[in-house]
Amino acid sequence: MKTDKVFFSEYGIFICTKCQKSITARAADSIPTTDIAESIKTQYKAELNNMGLKGKVRVMTSSCLGVCPTGFQAISQISMTDPNQNLSYVFDPYEETNQVLETIKKSVIK
Ligand code: FES
Repeated sequence: MKTDKVFFSEYGIFICTKCQKSITARAADSIPTTDIAESIKTQYKAELNNMGLKGKVRVMTSSCLGVCPTGFQAISQISMTDPNQNLSYVFDPYEETNQVLETIKKSVIK
């Protein structure tokens, strides 16, 4: 075994890939069944990196985060320096993805 450093210094943003099952069950058939977590990750990663946060904030998909909001998406924001700042967001990925991103932006820029 060997060890290595962690490649982000301030926050890890974990997007649950398992929430999709209950979201698509709740959503109407007219809503496309894209990979919700991967789509959110791509958007959040691009915008946070464009803000100069690469290396400080890392956006990742994850298996179940233990939040399990039926019909909604869960994201956990984990602080590398202050556990009191750790929190989870529960939201409608078709309507609130941008609002959650703006909230994350405000909380990671201090
Ligand atoms: S299924 Fe997404 S947090 Fe558990």
